[in-house]
Amino acid sequence: MRKTSTLSAGLGTVAALVLAIGLGGCAKNQTQMNGPSLYEQLGGQSGITTVVHAFLINVGKDHRINAAFAHANLAHLQAQMVAYIGEKSGGPQIYTGPDMYQAHKGMHITDAQWNAFVQDLGATLKQEKVPELAQSELLGILMPKKSEIVGH
Ligand code: HEM
Repeated sequence: MRKTSTLSAGLGTVAALVLAIGLGGCAKNQTQMNGPSLYEQLGGQSGITTVVHAFLINVGKDHRINAAFAHANLAHLQAQMVAYIGEKSGGPQIYTGPDMYQAHKGMHITDAQWNAFVQDLGATLKQEKVPELAQSELLGILMPKKSEIVGH
């Protein structure tokens, strides 16, 4: 009896692994498996535009990092960030700008600036009442970009 249940537990683990590997290889977002895509949860083009706009206002008020954006073309930056997030979240947008390394090369962005940027982004997602799963999924897409953005 004990052997059978160990075996079935083992098979269950194998099945879960096969499923996880299968899902991991799937291009879709986690939420697309059961419901609306991340793009939809973010409110599509208009929801993402609202979030990015609010984010850039918050960054502008943040003395830890606003100097870095003093000479930025904010209209261009907003449009590019919306396209980038739209594409990465499964929307129809096609981001045609430079990759994250090229876009930030020469800015010498520090860990402290990165942390402030991420904190402002998290606070903005809460402020704009983005659903919690979508908040963490979006952060999960953007956080791994750190090595391309920081320290170059
Ligand atoms: C995951 C995090 C980030 C993403 C997704 C992101 C995304 C972008 C995008 C899409 C652009 C436009 C590139 C172009 O079209 O030339 C850009 C430019 C820029 N980013 Fe970031 N960025 C991130 C982090 C940061 C951080 C941490 C800083 C500084 C604290 C920063 C500062 C800037 C500045 C100053 C520009 C140039 C704006 C301009 O001159 O128009 N970014 N970023």
